[in-house]
Amino acid sequence: METTHRVFVGDSRDLSAVDDESVELVVTSPPYPMIEMWDDLFTELDPAVGDALANGDGRAAFDAMHAQLERVWDELERVLVDGGIACINVGDATRSIDGSFRVYQNHARVLEAFEERGFEPLPDVLWRKPANSAAKFMGSGMIPPNAYVTLEHEYILVFRKGAESRAFEPKADRRYEAAYFWEERNQWFTDVWTDVTGELQSIETTDDELRERSAAYPLEIPYRLLCMYSAYGDTVLDPFWGTGTTTLAAMCAGRNSVGSELEDAFLEVFDDGVDEIPALSRSVGRARLERHREFVERRREDGEGFEYEADYYETPVVTGMERGIRLREVRDIERIVDGYRIEHAPLALE
Ligand SMILES: C[S@@+](CC[C@H](N)C(=O)[O-])C[C@H]1O[C@@H](n2cnc3c(N)ncnc32)[C@H](O)[C@@H]1O
Repeated sequence: METTHRVFVGDSRDLSAVDDESVELVVTSPPYPMIEMWDDLFTELDPAVGDALANGDGRAAFDAMHAQLERVWDELERVLVDGGIACINVGDATRSIDGSFRVYQNHARVLEAFEERGFEPLPDVLWRKPANSAAKFMGSGMIPPNAYVTLEHEYILVFRKGAESRAFEPKADRRYEAAYFWEERNQWFTDVWTDVTGELQSIETTDDELRERSAAYPLEIPYRLLCMYSAYGDTVLDPFWGTGTTTLAAMCAGRNSVGSELEDAFLEVFDDGVDEIPALSRSVGRARLERHREFVERRREDGEGFEYEADYYETPVVTGMERGIRLREVRDIERIVDGYRIEHAPLALE
């Protein structure tokens, strides 16, 4: 099986390099409006943002920043197929402007923008990194009523383009082989994720300073979303590509990808690390099988049995739908114009 991964240096407010209705899934994380690290970027996209901030008008700055994101949401509406899914990872922002503290609810604005474009909202996910530090409350004091809670969660807003889900030919292999295990379903389809540990390492040569500057999300986030909302052969788009975590996840998960990013330095860093991807893809697949074996053991210890056997692995599974699961690994990567072509093979077990 082959996949292609295209990346463009460019402004996603104009995604003309991506054809109409050519993408089945969007997984992305935009720059978050009103988080200071993105002020300069938004001001470059629209100088009115800088003017509003300089005038101490937080509300106008917030509006102007979202107006720029909305131009990208317009493009998503154009390139997604009917029934395609968009997963938008976004966090809210707290900020004092002109001495007045408030929360800017990015998730609510993004939700509204997608609804206005005719997308159907689906149940969303809240996620937070497991981190418990008393120090995070420093400065809020112990006396009521003027302290505020610390924002530590982010949203993955999920939308479907149009009223109807995608249709597949009956028993399509590319769908059944992309099945996930029963226990993965139970973990992934809960609405609060506190188990995103960042354990799935990204490619090692990734430049840490650049990753920080890009506010990269852990590989686990796009990897899960790809497994949940796409089948083999599908294409995922990330219009805020950053360090390319979505493309990396697509390569590991055996899907096609396309991305667009303003800063070309990110593409170079990704390219420096591509040699690591075959080993990474293998470890991601093997870790899933290992976790499944541990689940099987636990379930047997609890005295529960299994009715089905997987077709491609020597392991029982809980439901008939899981039998066809077939994980892939990256066998070979070839650089092509604007990206990479990948040869996948069934996951090698040894
Ligand atoms: C939050 S980061 C995405 C990080 C990414 N998910 C990762 O894991 O590395 C947002 C990225 O969007 C890029 N960006 C912002 N506005 C853009 C636009 N209009 N077109 C293309 N890229 C844009 C920024 O340069 C930044 O790298």
